Amino acid sequence: MIRRLVAALLFCGLAGVALAQQQVGWKTGREAAEIERKISALLKQMTLEEKVGQLHLSGRGEGFDIEQVRTGRMGAVMNFVVPQEIRQVQEAVRQSRLRIPLIIGLDAVHGFSTYFPLPLGQASSWNPALIEQAAYWTGREARAAGVNWTFAPMVDISRDPRWGRVLEGAGEDAHLASVIAAARTRGYQRGGVAATVKHFVGYGAAEGGRDYNSTWIPTSQLHDLFLPPFKASFDVGAMTAMAAFNALNGMPATAHRGMLTDLLRGQWGFRGFVTSDFGSITELRLHGIARDDAEAARKALLAGIDMDMMGDVYHKHLAGEVKAGRVPAKALDEAVRRVLRVKFHLGLFERPDVDVAAAPSLMQTEEARKVARQAAREGVILLKNERQVLPIAASVKSVAVIGAMAVPEDERVWTDPAGLGRRVVQPLPDALREQLPAGVEVTYQPAFSRNCGTEFKDKEAALKAAAAADLVVTMLGEDCEFMGEGASRTDLRLPGVQQELLEALVATGKPVVLVLATARPLVLGWADRHVAAIVQTFHGGTEGRAAIAEVLAGKVNPSGRTPMSFPRSVGQIPVYYDQLPTGRPQKIRQRYESIYMDEANEALYPFGFGLSYSRFAYADPRVTNARVPFDGATEVAVDVTNQGERDGQEVVQLYIRQPVAERSRPLRLLKGFEKVFLKAGETKTVRFRLEGRALGGHDDTGRYQLDPGIIEVYLGGSSLAAARTQFELVKR
Ligand code: NOJ
Repeated sequence: MIRRLVAALLFCGLAGVALAQQQVGWKTGREAAEIERKISALLKQMTLEEKVGQLHLSGRGEGFDIEQVRTGRMGAVMNFVVPQEIRQVQEAVRQSRLRIPLIIGLDAVHGFSTYFPLPLGQASSWNPALIEQAAYWTGREARAAGVNWTFAPMVDISRDPRWGRVLEGAGEDAHLASVIAAARTRGYQRGGVAATVKHFVGYGAAEGGRDYNSTWIPTSQLHDLFLPPFKASFDVGAMTAMAAFNALNGMPATAHRGMLTDLLRGQWGFRGFVTSDFGSITELRLHGIARDDAEAARKALLAGIDMDMMGDVYHKHLAGEVKAGRVPAKALDEAVRRVLRVKFHLGLFERPDVDVAAAPSLMQTEEARKVARQAAREGVILLKNERQVLPIAASVKSVAVIGAMAVPEDERVWTDPAGLGRRVVQPLPDALREQLPAGVEVTYQPAFSRNCGTEFKDKEAALKAAAAADLVVTMLGEDCEFMGEGASRTDLRLPGVQQELLEALVATGKPVVLVLATARPLVLGWADRHVAAIVQTFHGGTEGRAAIAEVLAGKVNPSGRTPMSFPRSVGQIPVYYDQLPTGRPQKIRQRYESIYMDEANEALYPFGFGLSYSRFAYADPRVTNARVPFDGATEVAVDVTNQGERDGQEVVQLYIRQPVAERSRPLRLLKGFEKVFLKAGETKTVRFRLEGRALGGHDDTGRYQLDPGIIEVYLGGSSLAAARTQFELVKR
């Protein structure tokens, strides 16, 4: 017994040590001061070329020159995923004069070997602790393979589903996105890789949803909406940032001194380094603010870009700019200091090379897959469930699964870092067979030749299978070229011939459950009117289809909520919940009101929405303080009851509105949320703390302003929350 206890303690101790070694982040006090001294000493030894080398980030593939590592001309690498290859570059470092370790970066975004749902799918869980776990395992696996820097989290607010990169973020809301940004940052860095908060700033507001396009963001909105998730990440210790491709209000973000230096370093006190995006320094020529690469390099460095990702521009021109006196040596030293600082704080100088032999066994561990399964479950959003067609009833004896998306080759839907332990995901038909009672027949027809349904393979066979079954489950959506960077769309219906198939399936007269795996909210009006149920996922990762099967079979009660509003039509975009009031609000839908002649104002599925197999009721919303000073706070409480027959999770959401202030304030603004588990019939009191000082907004000069007045509070299960209470915000 005692021996077992000792062994357990020893194990916990060792695990604790391993974990402590794994975690990265800013060191403080004496350790931090010591690091600054070490950097100063190192800077004194470095040649101009070696300094520039620290700012040069080059990537695996054609043109990669390992000689630059050996000669101290390269400080960072990216896109290496195979431990043996990482080992080679690490060995090359030791042949260099000063042996300054490399920072090794990768887009390990929603997984490395184990895939978690796409970030937007994780955000749909509204479960920050779970999202943090997913980031932790992403970081851990990447770290085990030798990576020490991830290009994530992307914290760009996105309100325009035409933009292909909405999948990488946490949706449309500043509060939700900030909580998730902090969770992901913590997770990656606990897992052992430095986080990169990106894209600084405004990338998500690309005009017309066209990737890389200019953004125009008023100062008040920049501060109220776009900057908070960045700030939240830095507040929990994010070590690096990435500048955006876009021009913000006319100034390319890669040369935006106001943002990169004055705000980020000046006001926010950020001590880490900022990398450019892929080739974005040389793109300053195309933005029309540099005549040549030398000028681009100069402008970027002086604005505050420390590292040149894949541009070769610092490598080729920075030394010349310094020698010519156009870039002060001090500015170069500062940038190098910031890069070295991150390397020291990461512990790279003491860290052994990647353990090539151990790496594979650390991939797709049971724990990681458990988290992936839970994240996939909680990310499933039930958008429609007519006549409780779900969960699949005992009377259903046969199910036809239709659509190639149901059986993918693997779940590397978008990034492709996995060099290790790639595992094929469980196909949906198999997962359903496992979850449904024995004796239920599950058939499968792909219908299309590719996942994304651009062309039919055998439509007739699919329709025949549908007609022969009691229930049709069709898995459709976006995949292939329809998602991610550079995949902006103007048409947000199902791509290819998928809509045609859906209509034909509905025409069979069989109840149709539409399971979606998409990169963004699609326009789903037709489906909403005609199919029996809609199950939305944003590509659930390695465990995605297994989790869907659990939801369909009723083993898991869906609890995902929309992180973005779903538009009824592209013409409504942008559609988001926290709109300002107008002077002509929609009342009776008459001509001179703020309405469309041909479309409703409201989203098809509002922000924060999602059905459950249970029903939740809200009662007795209340505040502890009727008057809250600017520097005070109140508790807000509400009783939530699960009135359904099944246990389930509800996302309790708190919105505020200040009906009269110095400037117009949003009709609703999310200020808190909590995911709670309630047994069937159970009631819980959910409490929130609202700080007076958090209830203001920024003005046109960027000044934060609090106004006294009534604050209405709404509590409920979506942005349409109806339980209402209020208090008064007072100066003192
Ligand atoms: C360009 C993307 O904008 C950025 O987010 C990514 O990290 C880099 N490519 C590197 O792959």
